[in-house]
Amino acid sequence: MNIEILVGSTLGGTEYVAEAIQPYLEEVGMTSTIHFNPDLNSLSIEDEQIWLICLSTHGAGDYPENFKAFVEQIKQTTGSLSKLSFGLIGIGDSNYDTFCFAAKRFDELLLEKEATRLGDVFNIDVVNSPIPEDRLVDWIPLWIKDLSNLAI
Ligand SMILES: Cc1cc2nc3c(=O)[nH]c(=O)nc-3n(C[C@H](O)[C@H](O)[C@H](O)COP(=O)(O)O)c2cc1C
Repeated sequence: MNIEILVGSTLGGTEYVAEAIQPYLEEVGMTSTIHFNPDLNSLSIEDEQIWLICLSTHGAGDYPENFKAFVEQIKQTTGSLSKLSFGLIGIGDSNYDTFCFAAKRFDELLLEKEATRLGDVFNIDVVNSPIPEDRLVDWIPLWIKDLSNLAI
């Protein structure tokens, strides 16, 4: 199954995280598509789907600009997202007391809509990890393992 990699980024750093994920997936024979401006209309949520969301936090714990309309689209869906499985990577700065709040809020939203999360939310702190994509090696292999256990 194709993995839909969704990016929420204001300054562009998180786009590199998304791009760095693709070789890990290719290595295990999985294909993926990066959505730099996620739009629910181009993701058929009536079908089984796997999303891997890479999401930074801006404002006071707010979503990045390019992600706000997408969040509204999800909030407005009336049906459940029970066919959706997802992984979530948050990127933030621990100097903010709203550290990685966008990822936290989005996780809560998807779970509320009955989507299934694979693995733990992986938060990357740019204070300790100025090149966030370098931290993927700690988490992506575990996520791929969780993914392989999915009976789809
Ligand atoms: C104006 C501004 C507000 C921010 N607010 C938060 C925040 O509330 N929580 C947090 O964890 N990080 C916050 N950050 C840190 C960003 O999430 C971090 O710099 C991230 O790497 C930006 O990713 P991007 O380049 O994909 O936009 C903020 C950064 C800026 C510039």
